[in-house]
Order: sequence, then C-alpha cells, then structure tokens
Amino acid sequence: MAENIHPIFDRILDRNQKEGFLNQRSKVLWFTGLSGSGKSTIAEFLEKKLFSEGYFIQLLDGDNIRTGICNNLTFSLEDRQENIRRISEVSKLFKEAGVICLNSFVSPTIDIRQMAKEIIGNEDFIEIFVNTPLEICEQRDVKGLYKKARAGEIKGFTGIDSPYEAPVNPDIEIKTEGQTVEESAIEVFNHILPLIKMD
Ligand code: ADX
Repeated sequence: MAENIHPIFDRILDRNQKEGFLNQRSKVLWFTGLSGSGKSTIAEFLEKKLFSEGYFIQLLDGDNIRTGICNNLTFSLEDRQENIRRISEVSKLFKEAGVICLNSFVSPTIDIRQMAKEIIGNEDFIEIFVNTPLEICEQRDVKGLYKKARAGEIKGFTGIDSPYEAPVNPDIEIKTEGQTVEESAIEVFNHILPLIKMD
C-alpha cells in the first residue's frame, strides 16, 4: 500500500518559512515521568509563560490525546507504544508547521522514547525528565490511581506493576522535590529559550 502514497511535503511551504512567520524555531519538548510527577502541571505553566513571551505553542497530554486520537488504546506496553507513535507523528506535523509542542506523557520505556525521537528527529526532540520519586507521586496521588493500583483495581500501573525506565541522558532533568511548579517551569524555560529563539 505504501508504494501508492506520495507525500507532498516538498511541494508545500517549508518549515523555515513558517518558523519565520511565527518568529520562532519549532521544537518538541517531551516531558517524561511517572504519573503524578508534575509533567502536565509544569507544561501548563510553561505554556502560559511562553505564550506571554510571544511564542506559539500546542500542548499535548493524556487529556486531549487519550480521549481523542488514541481513545481506542489501553495501557498495555503495546498500546502505550502505539499511543506514543501517534503522538509523535502529530507532533511532527505541528513541528513542520513551525509550532512548538509541549508533550507530557509517561512514555515509560527507553525504546518508546527512542521511537519518538526517531519519528520527530534527533535535533528537534528535547527530552525532559520530570524526576519525582515514586514515593512522592504515591503520597500526592492526585487522581487516586496509585491507591487503586495498590489495591489491584488497576492492573499494569506504571511504577507499581508496569515498568518505568528513567532516561539515561535527558536533555533536561527537573527534580521537583522541594521546588515550586513555577521554579521547575522557569528552569525548563531558561534551558529551551536559546533553542526556540529566532536569531
Ligand atoms: S503512556 O504510558 O502511554 O505514555 P499516558 O501519558 O498516555 O501514558 O497516560 C498516563 C495517564 O493515564 C496517567 O497519568 C494516569 O492518569 C492514567 N492511567 C490510567 N491507567 C494507567 C496505567 N495503567 N499506567 C499509567 N497511567 C495510567
């Protein structure tokens, strides 16, 4: 089937022109970490900060993806891989349109994140490890899911009975313990500013 499909990317306006229009360089900022580690909260704060500085961004997270384009997927490792594959392809489209993507997904294994990086492109995939220890995520238990997982009501929960492989060499590592969401978001902001700023 693939041989009858002819991508038209080379016939449409290119990414440079769109980045120029938006006065920014597009990147995909990929937040990975345990459920409840603070990925989405940090990404949401950062979205507001970037927007107030004149940047044009799209936030992608479980809420807008798993209820929409990925609403047929479970949390088996296979489906998580498919979840991240679709998200990566969507992010690539945003990237080509010059938009900065802020993605927060558990994306639990090294292989899954490697696949995302390959789809999006080495240069454009910025891996941000939101490093919050399991004990803290479980103490917070904002959604009450750890309690359910411990009680066996949810099977295959990341960190409990499904693996989380921490990134070995992330572009940015945020240790959220003992710092505010704002401090974490500003840490990421300072790091990525040179990457998204138009020279
Ligand atoms: S991923 O593994 O495929 O990247 P994703 O980020 O989309 O996961 O979704 C994770 C969110 O789904 C968690 O923050 C949690 O709220 C919810 N969730 C429900 N079941 C599970 C599970 N078995 N493991 C992890 N998260 C789960």
